[in-house]
Amino acid sequence: MKPTPFIQICDLEKSFPLKRGLFAHLYQQQGYKNPHVHALNGINLSIEKGEALCVVGETGCGKSTLARVLMGLIAPSKGQIYYQGQRIDNLTHNERMPFRKSMQMIFQNPYTSLNPRMTIFQTLSEPVSFHNAKLTKEQVDDKVAELMLSVDLNPDLSDAYPHEFSGGQRQRISIARALSVDPDFIVADEPLASLDVSVQAQVLNLMKDKQQQHNLTYLFITHDLTVVKHFANRVVVMYLGQVCEIADANTLFTQAKHPYTQALISAIPRLDNNAITPIKLAGEVPTPLHKPTGCAFQARCHYANDRCRNEVPIPMQIDVSTLIACHAVEEERL
Ligand SMILES: Nc1ncnc2c1ncn2[C@@H]1O[C@H](COP(=O)(O)OP(=O)(O)O)[C@@H](O)[C@H]1O
Ligand code: SF4
Ligand SMILES: [Mg+2]
Repeated sequence: MKPTPFIQICDLEKSFPLKRGLFAHLYQQQGYKNPHVHALNGINLSIEKGEALCVVGETGCGKSTLARVLMGLIAPSKGQIYYQGQRIDNLTHNERMPFRKSMQMIFQNPYTSLNPRMTIFQTLSEPVSFHNAKLTKEQVDDKVAELMLSVDLNPDLSDAYPHEFSGGQRQRISIARALSVDPDFIVADEPLASLDVSVQAQVLNLMKDKQQQHNLTYLFITHDLTVVKHFANRVVVMYLGQVCEIADANTLFTQAKHPYTQALISAIPRLDNNAITPIKLAGEVPTPLHKPTGCAFQARCHYANDRCRNEVPIPMQIDVSTLIACHAVEEERL
């Protein structure tokens, strides 16, 4: 019997009603009564304990929506999420509480994700006290000092406010806050994107160290494939709310098969002289207002044919660890 996945996501969909703005107006003029943005269109994914699973894809492909639905910050429109076999997407606020401790999120922007009116001590001690009501004041103080040290911050600075720290230091405080409740699973939504390149590696290494020290499982969202190379065990490539390819990181970088993955990988800046010519993608990611009739990537794909325009490709198991949704791969014409 197959072991229960640590986290399982089944047929997950999320659409947002489009109420205001130019698009809403234009669509209503065209007779669409109730236009929706289809941010997630049937995501199936399992995450194994202890792995660092990276999710990549261009802006607008649904990465943050996936993170927010997974964390219970917004409700899915359809589908289920299981945490160690227990369904969690339909829980009430109170029922969700035990999972809030196990599942933590690190946001993209450490300038907005920390409360500017709370000192670092308050930021870190609040979740510690909330989830461990029995701890004495001294034990909470010790835990805060320990957390600060664990992310290379001087505990003497615990009375300072977020604005007194640099971006990299603030993101380390966010990591400490996430770790403060001893989670099993961390969702990090582009945690390096707003940091200087010089501190990105520092924060990335810190997150990697924490994974090993605490046996953490990560869902790490990024659009930077160089980061993926350093961090991921496995990679999910998303396009317009769908999964294009799931593969081990090594396989993905050496033998990506999906045309979209190939284009992303060919665009990674390389230092050697034999740089692969980047595959040019025509146009931008379309706005996900309609569910596509065929492959979501068809308008930008060099291999699209009639089947691609009419039939949605179903993710297909290529080998033990690789899953690809592409007719051309299935037809072996790539
Ligand atoms: N609250 C919302 N209301 C309406 N549309 C939204 C909302 N959140 C996200 N979207 C839309 O859903 C799509 C996916 O967005 P997002 O998940 O933020 O993508 P990513 O993180 O990959 O850039 C985008 O077209 C975005 O405009
Ligand atoms: S299904 Fe067709 S359009 Fe989509 S990626 Fe494959 S070849 Fe391109
Ligand atoms: Mg995002």
